[in-house]
Amino acid sequence: MSTSASLSPASAASSTPLLRIDAIDAVYQNAIVALHGVSLDVRAGEIHALLGANGAGKSTTLKAVSHLLPAERGQVRRGAIHYDGQDVSTLDPAALVRRGLVPVLEGRRCFAHLTVEENLITGGLGCGARRSQIAAGLERVYAAFPRLADRRRSLAGLTSGGEQQMTAIGRALMAQPRLLVLDEPSMGLAPLVVQDIFRQLHHLNREQGLSILVAEQNSTVALQYAHRATVLDAGCSVLHGSAQELRERADIQHFYFGQGVVEDAPMLAAA
Ligand SMILES: Nc1ncnc2c1ncn2[C@@H]1O[C@H](COP(=O)(O)OP(=O)(O)OP(=O)(O)O)[C@@H](O)[C@H]1O
Ligand SMILES: [Mg+2]
Repeated sequence: MSTSASLSPASAASSTPLLRIDAIDAVYQNAIVALHGVSLDVRAGEIHALLGANGAGKSTTLKAVSHLLPAERGQVRRGAIHYDGQDVSTLDPAALVRRGLVPVLEGRRCFAHLTVEENLITGGLGCGARRSQIAAGLERVYAAFPRLADRRRSLAGLTSGGEQQMTAIGRALMAQPRLLVLDEPSMGLAPLVVQDIFRQLHHLNREQGLSILVAEQNSTVALQYAHRATVLDAGCSVLHGSAQELRERADIQHFYFGQGVVEDAPMLAAA
């Protein structure tokens, strides 16, 4: 399937979205076309899941959003991405972070030889926070992820995969994001840890209005917590809809993800 289909035309955004990806093509090394006409909107206050199989183009889309493709000899060749009304191609990644668009890249990249707390502090320093703001940020992160408070003096490289993912997310939270851009937070983690992380993301979304764009191969957990979702297939955005609609379509689950239908997952209303 190469054309984009909407499961719910009525759910089209009525107000200006926080993030708008409009028909982008992305290429690596001027040769490898990874995205073809990908479009999606993230509304303020929503969790939007970007789903797709291995190699579908999820990470490329998130790197395009965060203006990180040039660092990998990639570029957006056609289309446009606007965050908070601004063309992201006119801002460098650090400027985007300062405006609240904060990525957590694939593979929970922590500084292994720094402690958990030092890792978190780098997230605050990166956006020019003062000492008092860093202290307040640490309090917020430890309230969100109490396990990190217990492990604050441990070297990040010696903590579990789940704790490293929480550290990576916590470091992003230190930058006071408005839009958190998360690449496969569930990767390689045990189901209970994955639930823990998604529950906390949902809490931050509900309590603080944090908007989240999360790429996942694990569609079951992503659709459990997201409000809406976009499915990528071979570099094309092929489906948009509410998470509930996508959960209910057994054929979609099977076709795109090779998984069973998700049962008993709560429907979450957009904040
Ligand atoms: N740095 C790169 N240089 C060249 N090609 C790349 C690069 N990164 C990704 N690609 C290609 O772009 C396409 C999309 O890859 P991408 O990593 O965006 O997919 P993905 O959906 O994130 O997959 P996964 O679930 O495995 O993380 C793939 O064909 C991949 O081989
Ligand atoms: Mg990826």
